[in-house]
Amino acid sequence: MIYGKRIRLRGVEKKDLQKYYDWINDPDVNEGLAVDLPMSSLDEERWLERASEAEQAEKPLAIEMRVGRGWKLIGNCGFIHIEWRHRAAELGIMIGEKKLWNQGYGTETMQLLLKHGFETLNLNRIYLQVYSTNPRAKRAYEKAGFVLEGTMRAGVYKKGKYADVHFMSVLASEWEARREGQ
Ligand SMILES: CC(C)(COP(=O)(O)OP(=O)(O)OC[C@H]1O[C@@H](n2cnc3c(N)ncnc32)[C@H](O)[C@@H]1OP(=O)(O)O)[C@@H](O)C(=O)NCCC(=O)NCCS
Repeated sequence: MIYGKRIRLRGVEKKDLQKYYDWINDPDVNEGLAVDLPMSSLDEERWLERASEAEQAEKPLAIEMRVGRGWKLIGNCGFIHIEWRHRAAELGIMIGEKKLWNQGYGTETMQLLLKHGFETLNLNRIYLQVYSTNPRAKRAYEKAGFVLEGTMRAGVYKKGKYADVHFMSVLASEWEARREGQ
């Protein structure tokens, strides 16, 4: 498991799927995600089956927060589209527990994933896509060290409107400079 100050990241288990089902079908949660259609429990099971066949570094990670002496599931995250030759990968995240938004868990998760990506997977570039309609996510990513690198204009159609899709990234050199400055 990957441990941070208040959270840890672990492999996804079948028992997590009920929460994932609730979260992914919540319009407030999936507004910022590339998920537009209702997901069934069977869709969730199939997603986990497919994910369990992915290479180890691309397997999804459950986000848990420390509660007393135990841990509570609050979301999901992970690397996708890893390109080993270019040492680049994309990140995704969902904090499903809405009452925990704006408490720094998203930022902490991204910082932990960056540390894992640079210091364990030896990546050189970690990037993500965020909709212009999701300022909370953009702010969390900036706090974690991501910088805007480009915008795909009208890149997504959601709720009857087009929105821009921002690409943000962190390079290994920037990660190291930031770590040395702390
Ligand atoms: C996006 C997400 C991961 C962020 O996690 P989080 O734990 O809520 O984020 P944090 O608390 O670390 O940071 C949020 C920041 O955005 C700020 N913020 C919140 N709403 C905002 C708004 N409308 N405009 C600008 N900033 C906003 C918060 O104040 C906070 O910044 P601060 O610490 O400087 O005050 C989480 O909200 C989530 O999973 N949402 C649903 C799924 C999703 O959208 N995933 C991302 C897809 S790209």
